[in-house]
Amino acid sequence: MAPSSSSVLLVAALFAVFVGSAHGIAKVPPGPNITATYGDKWLEAKSTWYGKPTGAGPKDNGGACGYKDVDKAPYDGMTGCGNTPIFKDGRGCGSCFELKCDKPESCSDEPVIIHITDDNEEPIAPYHFDLSGHAFGSMVKKGEEQKLRSAGELEVKFRRVKCKYPKDTKVTFHVEKGSNPNYLGLLVKYVDGDGDVVGVDIKKKGEDKWIELKESWGAVWRIDTPKKLTGPFTVRYTTEGGTKKEIEDVIPEDWKADKSYESK
Ligand SMILES: *[C@@H]1O[C@H](CO)[C@@H](O)[C@H](O)[C@H]1NC(C)=O
Repeated sequence: MAPSSSSVLLVAALFAVFVGSAHGIAKVPPGPNITATYGDKWLEAKSTWYGKPTGAGPKDNGGACGYKDVDKAPYDGMTGCGNTPIFKDGRGCGSCFELKCDKPESCSDEPVIIHITDDNEEPIAPYHFDLSGHAFGSMVKKGEEQKLRSAGELEVKFRRVKCKYPKDTKVTFHVEKGSNPNYLGLLVKYVDGDGDVVGVDIKKKGEDKWIELKESWGAVWRIDTPKKLTGPFTVRYTTEGGTKKEIEDVIPEDWKADKSYESK
């Protein structure tokens, strides 16, 4: 019936406008995804900051990537939230970027390296890094950190770089809370090189078959299976640039939920 279908359309249109404005859909469209292979060209972005001026921010413990203690080594608070083409639904978790600014005067124009640990859902530019107060302040000449933070928002230049961690940092798999013999959730962190992860498989000791994990959320990969999961498991991960690494028997036979296991 024409009248009712057009009123349905009208309601739908009004609803879309309402939802659109409530969620700020009139937002800046995102730039193309920044992949591991896009090259090392400097691009333009906006940067803001959140949390305490010198801290890693209120999201220290549980941003959209699932990392914890990002104020501690190896991230040391040099962290930020990336918008869609940087966060990429979680695939951008752990990737590293150089950022620098030359305006205002307090900017040092020296690149600093930041790690993506969270999502930025309110972008003000096609590329937008919402940084920890510490990371934001580190783009500045010594002693002028507060001046820069008061500016609040900066034009920055950025490029994707390889992640390098201190020698004693190991690739770490955190078996997520709630994991049990029929569900295994693995949070992958401290991957050097591309930094990000686009695939995770596990293989039981003594078997040939790899079992593919699915993206759960952030940097968490999961498998649900009626077949009991008994280790030890070798974990293999693939980064966006195509690097594959196997960490043999890293998940032991007596693995426990909410515990981290690292490569030797
Ligand atoms: C950008 O990344 C997102 C998240 O991974 C993906 O869904 C989308 O298809 C990508 N866009 C392009 C153009 O590759």
